[in-house]
Amino acid sequence: MLKDLQEEILRLKKSRHAAVLAHSYQSAEILEVADLTGDSFALSVKARELEADTLILCGVRFMAETLKLLCPEKKVLLPVPEATCPMAEQIQPERVRDFREAHPDYKIVAYINTTAALKAECDVCVTSSSALKIVASLPEKNILFIPDKNLGAYVQARLPEKNIILWEGCCPVHNAVSEEEIQAAKVAHPNAKVLLHPELPAEVVRHGDMVGSTAEILHYAQNTTEDCIIGTEKSIADYLSLTRPSQQFHLLSKKLICPDMRITGLRDLLRTLEGQGGEEIQMDPGFAKSALRPIEEMIRLG
Ligand code: 13P
Ligand code: SF4
Repeated sequence: MLKDLQEEILRLKKSRHAAVLAHSYQSAEILEVADLTGDSFALSVKARELEADTLILCGVRFMAETLKLLCPEKKVLLPVPEATCPMAEQIQPERVRDFREAHPDYKIVAYINTTAALKAECDVCVTSSSALKIVASLPEKNILFIPDKNLGAYVQARLPEKNIILWEGCCPVHNAVSEEEIQAAKVAHPNAKVLLHPELPAEVVRHGDMVGSTAEILHYAQNTTEDCIIGTEKSIADYLSLTRPSQQFHLLSKKLICPDMRITGLRDLLRTLEGQGGEEIQMDPGFAKSALRPIEEMIRLG
């Protein structure tokens, strides 16, 4: 049944000149039929290399918007319109505009988990794998970092020469993990490597053997023979357990489940390819120019 669905998807992709991009948090069966998989940075940087006329993004809305900004001439589809990242919606663009007016000497850095409307108010985007490098490369000392206070704090702790103002935003999934949970996981699995996403709170992140994006966590786990504690969305631990049965992967916390990232199934993807589901992402060309600028700056600096 699963294989039939996947075969139909592969057939339709070809006949419709469509490509599927899937964030690493998607299920294994979606990753298997995707043309491009990876973290937010990889999906943005490599999107322009795809030759298909239609791009289908399995992930959340801000990723589909980013794709449309990067590939305006292509049809970009989000299979489930309700798939949104709550963190991306946490700030009203006017508040950032007001900040800029009051603090003209600040560079405004936006995590890529932001709406296109918010990106249009910012100077440069970063992802979890590029934030440190990009902020370090900026000549400005004064930075406003939006919206993730945890990723911002991670950058701030490593770049003491910068004056970084943090916003009160966060990923509700990663931010829910407590220091007691990481301490308990380390006691339960004393020999396991601890791999953590920087969206986790600072008091959790400081326990990591490595801290990185979803792709960096996957890469680390796939290049060691040791067992690992996985401090990011459950799908990463599930995928590693499926593909590397000789190692054990322990999910740091039961709270690490993102409902929005899990909402898209193979049937949604199939319906989108059949032209019976999904939403086409529309972008006003004038506005798109301002929202694309910080993404291009991210690619240039990253
Ligand atoms: P990555 O930058 O690691 O892809 O993270 C995206 C995300 O939504 C993490 O919660
Ligand atoms: Fe957004 Fe967090 Fe879900 Fe990632 S895990 S999509 S940051 S809510």
